[in-house]
Amino acid sequence: MDQERYLFVETQGCQMNDSDSEKIAGLLAGHNYMPTADKEKADLIILNTCSVRNKAEHKVYSYLGTLRPYKEKKPELIIGVGGCVAQQKGESLLKRVPYLDIVFGTHNIHKLPELIDNARVRNERASETRFYEGEPEIFLDPVLARPADLGTGKVTGLVTVMLGCDNFCSYCIVPYVRGREISRPSADIIREIEGLVETGVKEVTLIGQNVNSYEGGVGEDTDFPSLLSEINSIDGLKRIRFMTSHPKDLSESLIDSFCSLSKLCEHTHLPVQSGSDIILERMNRGYSRDAYLKKVQALRGKSPEMAITSDIIVGFPGETDADFDDTMDMTERVRYDALFAFKYSPRPETRAAGMTDQVPEDIKERRLTALFDKQREISLEKNREYEGRIVEVLLEGRDPERLSGKSRAFKTVYLKGDERLVGETVMARITKGSANSLTGEII
Ligand code: 5AD
Ligand code: SF4
Repeated sequence: MDQERYLFVETQGCQMNDSDSEKIAGLLAGHNYMPTADKEKADLIILNTCSVRNKAEHKVYSYLGTLRPYKEKKPELIIGVGGCVAQQKGESLLKRVPYLDIVFGTHNIHKLPELIDNARVRNERASETRFYEGEPEIFLDPVLARPADLGTGKVTGLVTVMLGCDNFCSYCIVPYVRGREISRPSADIIREIEGLVETGVKEVTLIGQNVNSYEGGVGEDTDFPSLLSEINSIDGLKRIRFMTSHPKDLSESLIDSFCSLSKLCEHTHLPVQSGSDIILERMNRGYSRDAYLKKVQALRGKSPEMAITSDIIVGFPGETDADFDDTMDMTERVRYDALFAFKYSPRPETRAAGMTDQVPEDIKERRLTALFDKQREISLEKNREYEGRIVEVLLEGRDPERLSGKSRAFKTVYLKGDERLVGETVMARITKGSANSLTGEII
């Protein structure tokens, strides 16, 4: 038997990358690499990169810079870069960073064991960034490679239902670095969730860039609400969440699922991006502010407890004060539970990067601050409305002082109680609502 080796993974960016990093760890555990949190001990360091927003490349080079002394101390250390920046830059990363061994793209996780072997045995440096569009089964396989023992102790799990995106919003690099939409066969998804539940997972979040477009594997005739319904009947699973749902595709039948499926939690992440019709059009989002507001109304009409969160970009090219006012107005009308807001940053290859009316940085900054201030007020008001109410909390962990978990509406809740309750759902009375969390007591 080969001597055991250690793997350190650094993840930048979104949930999709968190999930890919889990898959990498799972796949490599089957090849004798055990995860470690100690970089000194690692025989293999992998950086999983994100290029959705600003300074992506800069962050990659500066992180790789910090790895140079590790390589100098331990020349047999293998360093690999994956994810969206790897997909985008390929070979050129190897040229620029002489001590980098491996570059692998978003469809190439399954190639890692081979690339690592070649680097280790033959000192080969290589970049693999091929898209497997016509043959998804090849790269979808490692999605299942998650040995049961790696999941132990975790209460929640991320499960990929589809990859890629076909929407081509004019600011977004995702379609270029993650390829076209491909859905996983539903049987694989169910099998993965059953496996997670066996290791103690109680809640799964189904992830994909646009889960509404889910259509099952090749030859399957299904859709996202049907998938949810199948997952709802898995024994031992307590909660289901999903993200992200594109507002243009949020269907009536998906909205109905919140009523009919007991495990589906009352939270929808519904990124609006802008409140201005002119900007929405230029972003190629495929909906108007009215259409968006109608979807929000429909969600709340069917499910009064529904929490709604959103992503917003400020300073998109051509955004005037009046457009930004529309965005502020949108946040006030919807009264989001939480908001992720970003300054627009031009991304290579995207249409918006070539628009001539870019907004100056100081205006972007000012708008972002105004939006955050407004949202903080709203979040605080909304969370105060919880005071005195009773909510169900799935306990996920504990810091030295208290237990922490999430309500069905995705609020972080802090409670006093025994550590052995982690993994259980409890009912709690909320005693205090703050801008980012709730505090309560178990009843
Ligand atoms: N600039 C700023 N924010 C962006 N996002 C995507 N592309 C960009 C960009 N070029 C934001 C969107 C998206 C979230 C994941 O990142 O709000 O919903
Ligand atoms: Fe990017 Fe738009 Fe696709 Fe979301 S829907 S990943 S913002 S192109």
